[in-house]
Amino acid sequence: MAFNLKGRCLLTLKDYTPQEIRYLLDIAKEVKAERRAGIVHQRFLGKTIALIFEKRSTRTRCAFETAFGEEGGYPVFLSTDDIQLGAKESIEDTARVLGRMFDAIEFRGFKQSTVEALAKYSGIPVFNGLTDEYHPTQVLADLMTVEEEFGFLKGTKLVFVGDGRNNMANTLAIGCAKMGMDYVINSPKELWPSDAYINEVKEMAKENGATFTITDVPGEGVDGAHAIYTDVWASMGEEAKQKEREALLRPFQVNEDLMRKTGRDDTIFLHCLPAIKGQEVTLDVIEGKQSRVWDEAENRKHTIKAVMLATML
Ligand code: CP
Ligand code: NVA
Repeated sequence: MAFNLKGRCLLTLKDYTPQEIRYLLDIAKEVKAERRAGIVHQRFLGKTIALIFEKRSTRTRCAFETAFGEEGGYPVFLSTDDIQLGAKESIEDTARVLGRMFDAIEFRGFKQSTVEALAKYSGIPVFNGLTDEYHPTQVLADLMTVEEEFGFLKGTKLVFVGDGRNNMANTLAIGCAKMGMDYVINSPKELWPSDAYINEVKEMAKENGATFTITDVPGEGVDGAHAIYTDVWASMGEEAKQKEREALLRPFQVNEDLMRKTGRDDTIFLHCLPAIKGQEVTLDVIEGKQSRVWDEAENRKHTIKAVMLATML
């Protein structure tokens, strides 16, 4: 079934229904197959997108630039060293100007309120390319990767091990809840999301036949997991907390022992990347046969292209 997502933003993933996520994943599958077959389109010809980055990026930037550019679009990379964004000019004013010149905006940065303000004032689709709170384009790629492996999403179990209140843990919670998956956060209590967030996601999960559990016992809750997921211990902007996080999270490292604890030999390992090998994940796991991190990284491009096709044409 086709949905009309024209003009829509992607800010958290809460803003999308399970059917809309399904629709985006189906488009992503199609564009991946087209690329494999060497089929070239020019669907973004004559269109422009502003790519604003307050934080560094390899995958997100390259996914947006290549997906948009190879379809004839013109992406403009804007680092906050170069443009006025909340410094000399308010975010609202920058948004209004960009809205007059571009067809869409991608924003990566610190505050969720910045991407929300860009969406409110620009009048064009705005895509969250990561904030301190959410990373929705990443989760679309993660869902795609799980589905490619197992053939379905509903009823699969994904366990996030590590910093349970970071942007990845938060957004995976939404993606799994929407798609009827069993989601577990395995994280020390100090790094749990707020009670309000836990309850919000539990409600969302209930509506879609999904489950959400959280545990602070290292290694607990991984039995039967289809996917084990981890992320860096200190996210961008939290570099000063690195030592403290190492002490808290060392018992939550993803290693061969933990992978074995799932009791399945087809469990896959996922990581949004970049990874610090030897910290949140051991070298043997990330380089091992259960790792799907490179497929996951490639899928960033196909899912981001799907989002742009669905919302910009
Ligand atoms: N996973 C991810 O967002 O990677 P980048 O920081 O390289 O964009
Ligand atoms: N949690 C990480 C994700 C990077 C893609 C960070 O925010 O740095």
